[in-house]
Amino acid sequence: MNQTMHEQPATKAPVHPDYSPGLEGVIAGESAICQVDEGEAGLRYRGYAIGDLAERCSFEEVAYLLLFGRLPTGAELAEFSQSLQRHRSLPHQVRRFMDSLRPGMHQMDVLRTGISLLGLSDPEAQDGSREANLRKSVRLLAQIPELIAGSYQVMAGRKPMEPDREGSFAENLLNLVAGRRQDDLGAAMAQALNVSLILYAEHEFNASTFAARVTASTLTDLHGAVTAAVATLKGPLHGGANEAVAAMLIEIGRPEHVAFWLRETLAHKRRVMGFGHRVLRQGDARSAIIQRHAERLSDLCGDRHWYQIAATLDRLMLEQKGLRPNLDFYTAVAYLLMGIPSELSTPLFVCSRITGWCAHVIEQQDHNRLIRPRALYTGPAPKAYDPLEQRT
Ligand SMILES: CC(C)(COP(=O)(O)OP(=O)(O)OC[C@H]1O[C@@H](n2cnc3c(N)ncnc32)[C@H](O)[C@@H]1OP(=O)(O)O)[C@@H](O)C(=O)NCCC(=O)NCCS
Repeated sequence: MNQTMHEQPATKAPVHPDYSPGLEGVIAGESAICQVDEGEAGLRYRGYAIGDLAERCSFEEVAYLLLFGRLPTGAELAEFSQSLQRHRSLPHQVRRFMDSLRPGMHQMDVLRTGISLLGLSDPEAQDGSREANLRKSVRLLAQIPELIAGSYQVMAGRKPMEPDREGSFAENLLNLVAGRRQDDLGAAMAQALNVSLILYAEHEFNASTFAARVTASTLTDLHGAVTAAVATLKGPLHGGANEAVAAMLIEIGRPEHVAFWLRETLAHKRRVMGFGHRVLRQGDARSAIIQRHAERLSDLCGDRHWYQIAATLDRLMLEQKGLRPNLDFYTAVAYLLMGIPSELSTPLFVCSRITGWCAHVIEQQDHNRLIRPRALYTGPAPKAYDPLEQRT
């Protein structure tokens, strides 16, 4: 590499056979957690096809699978679920932080700061052992729903709701962010949320997971690595896309406006949120799964409005750009129908992806090698120092 760089003027980017902008296609490490399967399964968590997990498991089961490396037995699942319920309340320090929040703050910034603060309050903050990291992962997973919902309520001028000590992770989360419904529709919503949490839980070396692994590779603490991941997830090219999809569907407004809106958007070379993927170029298998749930919820709610806008846009994007929706697209329809405020879409992604991040932090530190790549230098050629008095 040095040979090539020295022979060319440094201002012109040298060609380097191993260089891939955005690390596209680069194998940056080994992992036994998630496989991007180009075949029918689309994605596998620890060997299991995502479709089987989404339709047959509780989110708790999948969280256990990711963190502990295998599916739990009945007794293990019961104990894990109880542990998640037990740790649902927040330390005083974090509650005081929530009281200081003001309207207009970005929910992901609040969440990033809150998670960092949870690290300060954690009794095992500086214990980097595998066992302590697993216990911290479980506590974080249990605490994040209340942190998200409580912060949102304080910023809206309301008193935070108490988390439910009973109920599944998805039921508690739905209750905290959208209020409880005791009917069949409430059960269908909790089921769709459970599915979306499973689909969001893990995705190999995506940007936020890679950020977590880079951070963990310095042997810093788990909360620090997760804080870096949250900051990374916020961006609209990554997790921020699901909030942007909701805003886009609201902006389009009606199914008959889609064609005009899309023409204008593409003419101005703007990206259509919820379409395309860096790795899944042939389509995202998770999208078809959440689409089914979004359509079912639309029927149960007697409101096909959002689904029709989305399905029309889906068809036109394939015809005009050859692009297919990613997971964020129909998830936004499901969340709109559940009454989840769109600002909470990306924080809800965190509720789920925290499991994948923590599994990766633990895996990274199990076989650690500091992640420290090289850059292709494109700056000025070597020059002599100019004394201050000679500079014009
Ligand atoms: C996800 C994403 C960042 C992947 O980007 P990428 O791998 O860098 O893909 P590229 O930027 O190389 O795009 C390839 C082509 O498809 C187009 N394209 C990709 N995604 C597009 C989108 N969502 N809307 C419109 N055009 C898109 C690009 O403009 C480019 O076209 P060109 O070759 O004519 O310039 C990109 O698809 C995107 O921005 N999607 C919208 C945001 C989103 O949904 N993010 C969630 C990801 S899970």
